[in-house]
Amino acid sequence: MRAITYTQPGGPEVLELVDRPVPEPGPGEVRVRLAFSGVNPTDWKSRTRARPGPDGQVPNQDGAGTVDAVGQGVDPVLVGERVWVWEAAWQRPHGTAAEYTVVPARQAVLLGAAPSFELGAALGIPFLTAHRCLTLGETVPDRLGPGSLTGRTVLVQGGAGAVGNAAIQLARWADATVITTVSSPQKAQLAAAAGADHVVDYRQQDVVAEVRKIAPRGVDVIAEVNPAVNAAVDAQVLAQHGAVALYADDAGDEVTIPVRAQMVQNARWQFVLVYTEPERAKALGVEDVNAAVLDGAVRVGGEAGLPLHVYPLAETAVAHQAVQEGAVGKVLVDVTG
Ligand SMILES: NC(=O)c1ccc[n+]([C@@H]2O[C@H](COP(=O)([O-])OP(=O)(O)OC[C@H]3O[C@@H](n4cnc5c(N)ncnc54)[C@H](OP(=O)(O)O)[C@@H]3O)[C@@H](O)[C@H]2O)c1
Repeated sequence: MRAITYTQPGGPEVLELVDRPVPEPGPGEVRVRLAFSGVNPTDWKSRTRARPGPDGQVPNQDGAGTVDAVGQGVDPVLVGERVWVWEAAWQRPHGTAAEYTVVPARQAVLLGAAPSFELGAALGIPFLTAHRCLTLGETVPDRLGPGSLTGRTVLVQGGAGAVGNAAIQLARWADATVITTVSSPQKAQLAAAAGADHVVDYRQQDVVAEVRKIAPRGVDVIAEVNPAVNAAVDAQVLAQHGAVALYADDAGDEVTIPVRAQMVQNARWQFVLVYTEPERAKALGVEDVNAAVLDGAVRVGGEAGLPLHVYPLAETAVAHQAVQEGAVGKVLVDVTG
């Protein structure tokens, strides 16, 4: 099969298009003939740090395609089913930048007939992270679904980002009031298209004042993409018993939180890494994200605030570079292209 691999850590230039054997599914695994591979920041970051085995690492966690074989103990009825795949490359060599991957059966989720493979490949990392952020608070349920966030207000910092877009879409599906921040009028349009009720331009407006106008008692949950910069704002807009979900460190690894003010609020500041979140939270996330998809609540493309940028398999390195440079929207690799 055609696959992208790397055998040493480094820049995009370490990614090579190679021919390698189609992997066989082991016990409890399924093999998926991939259509699209989703690219996330974690994929290029892993590429710079990983120490692959001698056979090389196929990059990319997310993907979508069709089950074409099952291992021992897996119901063969799955063969032919359209699926989305999550965390294919987490501590495994079989990422999704290849014609085939093998994953434990629970990591291939039935997509149904209607949703596109592009949508399926956009789900894993961003939507599971967004689900975790929206459900880890004390005043919100651990499940998302229609009505689960009725009466709750969510602040999504960075609503034009991939995780931000997912958080907006899921929070709207759950009937929250969604406030989001962006850095430009173009990004404001994307965040509104995703479904945000209120969009605040953090370069032009006073975020604390704007959020307090919309939510005088504060917001219940904050999905925070840039804690090093935004922690002081978050602390000023969080409601009593609210939660700040911190999921990124691009602008710095240190956070300053006003202890007494947040103590008085009984606030929760919780770190999120999708790979190591508790098993139960992950399982609920997969179920709820899939329910949102089957409900027609998840969309991709410009009209959903998530423009698609599609590269052929041979240009996976360019796709990685695009994500590293902050492409706005969703970067995908067409594995068949
Ligand atoms: N912990 C986890 O499990 C997990 C999971 C997924 C992703 N991540 C990490 O999360 C980060 C974002 O991932 P992504 O795929 O969503 O990337 P992305 O699509 O590039 O989105 C990042 C967004 O953050 C916005 N942003 C940056 N600084 C901001 C600020 N001070 N206030 C508000 N918005 C701000 C950016 O826009 P502007 O700069 O124009 O504002 C951009 O829209 C990456 O570092 C990624 O590695 C972590």
